[in-house]
Amino acid sequence: ASANRGAFSGRSAFIFAAIGSAVGLGNIWRFPAVAYENGGGAFMIPYLVALLTAGIPLLFVDYAIGHRWRGSAPLAWRRLKRWGEFIGWWQVLICVIIGAYYALIIAWAADYMFFSLNTSWGDDAAAFFGSFTQAPDAAETSVGGSIVWPVLISIVVVWVATVVTMILGIQNGIARLSMIFIPLLVIMFVILVVRALFLPGALVGLETLFTPNWSALADGGVWVAAYGQIFFSLSVAFGIMLTYSSYLKKKSDLTGSGLVVGFSNSAFEILAGIGVFSALGFMAQAQGVRVDEVVSSGIGLAFIAFPTIIGEAPGGALIGVLFFGSLVLAGFTSLVSIVEVVISAVHDKFGMSRAASVLVVMVPLALVSTILFSFSSGLPMLDVLDKFVNEYGIVAVALVSTVILAWLVRGLPTLRDHLNHSGSFKIGWFWIACVAVVDPIVLAVTLFFSSRDLLGAGEPYGGYPAWFVNVFGWGMAALLLVAAIVLSLAPWSPRSHLHQLD
Ligand code: PHE
Ligand code: NA
Repeated sequence: ASANRGAFSGRSAFIFAAIGSAVGLGNIWRFPAVAYENGGGAFMIPYLVALLTAGIPLLFVDYAIGHRWRGSAPLAWRRLKRWGEFIGWWQVLICVIIGAYYALIIAWAADYMFFSLNTSWGDDAAAFFGSFTQAPDAAETSVGGSIVWPVLISIVVVWVATVVTMILGIQNGIARLSMIFIPLLVIMFVILVVRALFLPGALVGLETLFTPNWSALADGGVWVAAYGQIFFSLSVAFGIMLTYSSYLKKKSDLTGSGLVVGFSNSAFEILAGIGVFSALGFMAQAQGVRVDEVVSSGIGLAFIAFPTIIGEAPGGALIGVLFFGSLVLAGFTSLVSIVEVVISAVHDKFGMSRAASVLVVMVPLALVSTILFSFSSGLPMLDVLDKFVNEYGIVAVALVSTVILAWLVRGLPTLRDHLNHSGSFKIGWFWIACVAVVDPIVLAVTLFFSSRDLLGAGEPYGGYPAWFVNVFGWGMAALLLVAAIVLSLAPWSPRSHLHQLD
């Protein structure tokens, strides 16, 4: 029989781990710009609707599947429906890809945390796309290039820290880490927000973010953006929350915990909106331009705008350490949740010990990630993978899995009863209507628009060479699906967890 799968010691351990997973870079560098571009203050309405009709209901689905069928994604899906195992592997492989490049972003943030101690550094804000990552021009992107030493060093540190955490296990590794990192992240981020609020120009920044544009509510694109942000931010439907809930005791308040996690994630997004736009307000004032001219998100916000702010603000070094430190903490607690999906799948299917599963997964993943992303082609590769997997792939897998669950397997009543069994928040027809009808429709619409963007633009994504997008975008996505099916057909080891229910 296989070794013990591991467990969370209790409710708060699970909640901290789940918040650690949900609160990530998306909260800090994606939400503020999405809210600003989609109605500002008025965005709160579609955003809240999306949270209540998609984010939290799908979070409950993940929890219920993992907890009811007590397994990693492939095992839980297989127990739900034998042919459904491929969904679990699809989710696992998505996590493999995201994990490989998430480590790179954490490594960049760690480097920038040290760079920000050097206050004259802000003058060289444009260095990110130049001397730092040494990224080639989009149109001239190829694979390889030169080694980027500061990235290589930090990415190795990130992977070593991840291996150590994973070897320590569910409670002593993941849960304990989150119980330290999440409070620390909140403290650091609150200090950062308060500091930013006192910068000159901060209030103009806040006004820019929160001034409601009510006409946005009539724009379908704004609603798609709200749902997109919620899907992205809660990372539902690709195995993470499913895996974590499989480590919970039999009698667990899943719905109550889900509400805490869903609302905490959103609270952190709004806090980040305040901090980021205060800082952008300062930057606009310092440069004598309007705030809307300096709004950015993602890599541009973190590695171009913030270095500028750090260089111009009084006490910029502190802002830099707090900001990039927050990215590291938020990113790392997400990274461990991503790799746990893979480790637990290998553990369950092949019946290896925890330590063996960790090594079998982590050694190749860390090596490939380090080799692929320490070169100057790392940034464009990350850009394409992120677009296709973290924005497009997760919507595709969410659509396929909810349709299969609700309409082909008709599993929702079982899951509802399971959730209500020990849940403090009772669910009923509204939850079923969201999961079976509203969410598939919204997911299908989202998928339609992003497919149109990716296919119909006339030019490959990001201005990269077509072969590059075909290989790392479309080719990778197709390979993922084929590999998921092959893995789901592979026999379960006699030592596997398949016939054990603990
Ligand atoms: N959803 C998290 C965020 O908002 C990040 C994340 C991505 C977590 C992928 C797990 C998996 O940033
Ligand atoms: Na999030």
